[in-house]
Amino acid sequence: MTQFSETDLTAAVVDSFKDTPNPRVKFLLQELVKSLHAYVQKTDLTFEEWEFAIDFLTRTGQKCTPIRQEFILLSDVLGVSMLVDAVNHREREGATETTVLGPFYVGEHQVTPHGTDVSARLSGEKMFVQGRVTDLSGKPLAGVPVDIWHADDDGFYDSQKPTYATEGPSSRARFITDADGRFFFRTIKPCSYPIPVDGPVGEMISYTKRPALRPAHIHFLVAAPGYEPLVTHVFIGGDPNIDCDVVFGVKDELIANIEKRTDPVMPDGKPSPTPWHLMTYEFRVRPGGGAAPKPLAAKATEDA
Ligand code: BEZ
Ligand code: FE
Repeated sequence: MTQFSETDLTAAVVDSFKDTPNPRVKFLLQELVKSLHAYVQKTDLTFEEWEFAIDFLTRTGQKCTPIRQEFILLSDVLGVSMLVDAVNHREREGATETTVLGPFYVGEHQVTPHGTDVSARLSGEKMFVQGRVTDLSGKPLAGVPVDIWHADDDGFYDSQKPTYATEGPSSRARFITDADGRFFFRTIKPCSYPIPVDGPVGEMISYTKRPALRPAHIHFLVAAPGYEPLVTHVFIGGDPNIDCDVVFGVKDELIANIEKRTDPVMPDGKPSPTPWHLMTYEFRVRPGGGAAPKPLAAKATEDA
């Protein structure tokens, strides 16, 4: 048959993939065709709407650079990233909840001594962060690299600023857990921030009157050998935007109760001249393997 009607076109396109050698690729392509065709039929998509969609996706691609991934941002705001995360973590067995990596992870951070003030150059309210990494039974895991990164008091990551190349990292570091699985550092309390809105994804968010904000959080990447890499972030309890995360990444278990303290010393015995906040969080990882996620820049270099 050479001519297809609206009713038999989908089956014909699905069938055209029948000789795909890899069964998983064949399945993914055939299901994609079925979902796309169903969308076109359900919405009675017009030519103008189809052209708009092609232009939107073209501009999304054009906005991408080795350190800017507009397609991932699109996936994030459409909830696809969190859905992929969910279907891949149906079995948690008590492990810490996972969430999106986000676009501001730049790769393995520099190993930093416990207690370091990672935001020394920034203004903001002081915070002491203490964490512990254990297995599912609560046994502490020693020698585990934990990468942390967060936005500053104005809502920007170091890598978004023009000074990044000359001044180096800020509010980002790697700690290695001690014999009791613990790590700790000083920083400033991060605030809510908008996702990058200077591209087509930002246009969509603004046109649809959605808030572009992410509630305040600190990212953690826990890469214990012999365990599944844990990609997560811990939210600042009480943040006014906790219920409107533009990328749907908040999970109840990841909201930390931040204590306001006035003690003259912090938990490591060193003085604090000003009141400070305390974040305490325990990370549980489950046995497994797999490589820790790589940042966009590293992927771009590998692919080149
Ligand atoms: C972030 O938390 O850094 C982030 C995640 C998804 C989209 C934009 C930012
Ligand atoms: Fe973030």
